[in-house]
Amino acid sequence: MKNILVFETKEQLAEAAAQATIDLLRAAIDAYGSATWVLAGGSTPLASYKSIVEKHSQSLDWQKVTFALGDERIGEHTSPDNNWAAIDAVLAPLPAQRLRPNVDQTAENAAKEYEQQLTSLAKNDIGLPRFDVMWLGLGDDGHTLSLFPHHESLSPTAQLVIPVHDSPKPPRDRISMTLRALLGAENVMILASGAEKRDAIKSAIAADNSPIALAASIAQTHDGVVSWYVDASAAPN
Ligand code: 6PG
Repeated sequence: MKNILVFETKEQLAEAAAQATIDLLRAAIDAYGSATWVLAGGSTPLASYKSIVEKHSQSLDWQKVTFALGDERIGEHTSPDNNWAAIDAVLAPLPAQRLRPNVDQTAENAAKEYEQQLTSLAKNDIGLPRFDVMWLGLGDDGHTLSLFPHHESLSPTAQLVIPVHDSPKPPRDRISMTLRALLGAENVMILASGAEKRDAIKSAIAADNSPIALAASIAQTHDGVVSWYVDASAAPN
């Protein structure tokens, strides 16, 4: 069964995703004593980060939460391209632990180093880092993370983080969590808004082989719960 939640506006989507995330992180803290939240770049998640800081900053013991990031652009950390900088400019007031990718180096080294950083996280029953909440953005081409359709980034791998070159969406050099990393995701929330996403969503929900559909299906093979948060303009008819 597909869990597709449709909201009239992007603001309502943002608020609902914020509330669900707080509830899921709290449940993970109750169950495990700590929680990990994998953040996503893009404008749809950004509205939700704002809602969390404005309305939910007192709702959790944030020191028990670790922030990680699903993908990042290679370059200086102060660059306007840096996803973490844009996200953390909003989330800064929350006193969570932070696993920030160090991308001021080659993509190869950055990917290796981030994979190493992820080993500090608690593991699930198959020995992978447990991501209690993983947010995924969606591009209108069906990409998620920095995994692009018909691109080398989708090649099977044992790694959890890979270097990505020749990204069809600039900048060209990136690092990305892989499809394999999705096996550690307990709750995947896909956040997408805008009419330009509608076709990608419709086709992914029908289980095409786009990166977002593959990510959702891999998470579900290990009992991950996948929920789509979409606004009315992005909702498939
Ligand atoms: C990137 C972006 C990108 C983004 C999607 C959706 O690294 O290039 O983060 O992958 O997540 O394009 O973005 P919107 O939510 O802004 O539509």
